[in-house]
Amino acid sequence: MNILIIGGAGYIGSQTTKAIKKKGYYPIVLDNLIHGHKHLIEDILKVPLIVGQAGDKELLKNILLGNHPKLKGRTIDAIIHLAAFANIGESMEKPAKYYRNNLGETLSILEVLIDQVKLREEKKISPLKIPFVFSSTCATFGVPELKDIPISENNTQNPINPYGRSKLMIEKILEDFHNAYEIPSISLRYFNAAGADPECELGEDHNPETHLIPLILDALGDNENSIKVFGRDYPTKDGTCIRDFIHVYDLAEAHVAALEKIIKNNICDFYNLGTGKGYSVIEVIETCKEVTGLALKVDFVERRLGDPPILIASPKKIMKELQWRPVFSDLETIIRHAWRWYLKNSS
Ligand SMILES: NC(=O)c1ccc[n+]([C@@H]2O[C@H](COP(=O)([O-])OP(=O)(O)OC[C@H]3O[C@@H](n4cnc5c(N)ncnc54)[C@H](O)[C@@H]3O)[C@@H](O)[C@H]2O)c1
Repeated sequence: MNILIIGGAGYIGSQTTKAIKKKGYYPIVLDNLIHGHKHLIEDILKVPLIVGQAGDKELLKNILLGNHPKLKGRTIDAIIHLAAFANIGESMEKPAKYYRNNLGETLSILEVLIDQVKLREEKKISPLKIPFVFSSTCATFGVPELKDIPISENNTQNPINPYGRSKLMIEKILEDFHNAYEIPSISLRYFNAAGADPECELGEDHNPETHLIPLILDALGDNENSIKVFGRDYPTKDGTCIRDFIHVYDLAEAHVAALEKIIKNNICDFYNLGTGKGYSVIEVIETCKEVTGLALKVDFVERRLGDPPILIASPKKIMKELQWRPVFSDLETIIRHAWRWYLKNSS
């Protein structure tokens, strides 16, 4: 089966591409490389990369029907869509950029999927309705009440920034498109993706970096550099925010499970994707110090607007229905793998 991975040259996308290939499927990556890394796909994973815009309808139509030269006649059987901008702070300053890229481009992809049904019928290509796995986020939940932790799929979704809203709107569109056009889809609402490929081939390389663990690793052992901790008066055990960190390998495996579910069943469903365990910012800092043996300067500063005190997923539904289990998502392993990748790439 030929799987189109949109945004596959990014952090989670490249790990997902690796998981899909390892499972015996044939991945093809479409990425505009605005934040992606060509060498990870072409040189390391040795997977075809098409450089282009997710919402380029003509390009997409050609890819899906196997008419693009890189596909050599292979038609696409399913799509995993990870392409998006994901910086919450930036989304508040530049909402138009986020709605255009995250919402507008995705709507274009989905419109192409509607047109495919008739085209494929004429050309006798299956499936007529292309299964679609979508990268959603815990940011769709906004600031959940403490009584609602761990967060299950039924919790109220009330995002508080354009990033979270753009993702929730797509979830709703997917529901509408399933009702009206029977496009099968699964939305995976990731909690905090972290760590690096256990084989150290792939890892996190965002610019600018906004994620806690790579920021800490960068600041470790550097007297000039410190890590900012936003707020130490939250209603948590040590006053700092608590997050659910999920290893990028485990996240990628969940995409394989989701894909296999919608290849067989024409459903529209949603899964929270975390481990069910939370760690405070201070616990993460302390574990980074232990794993690396290095010291770190910490600056406690004011809370950031809109940071929920605690975000922990309930993974019950995905464990039960997709038989997904985290393998590497304990904090120490996450940090060990991230550190190994950091050392490999900073030398
Ligand atoms: N990293 C996390 O902790 C996290 C948490 C929740 C949800 N997510 C979601 O997961 C997905 C992947 O996140 P990531 O951390 O790997 O980000 P990333 O920036 O590393 O990867 C995104 C990829 O999409 C590509 N891209 C963006 N817009 C595109 C477009 N219009 N056309 C083609 N390619 C485009 C980028 O070049 C990049 O390679 C995103 O949708 C993000 O919202 C991430």
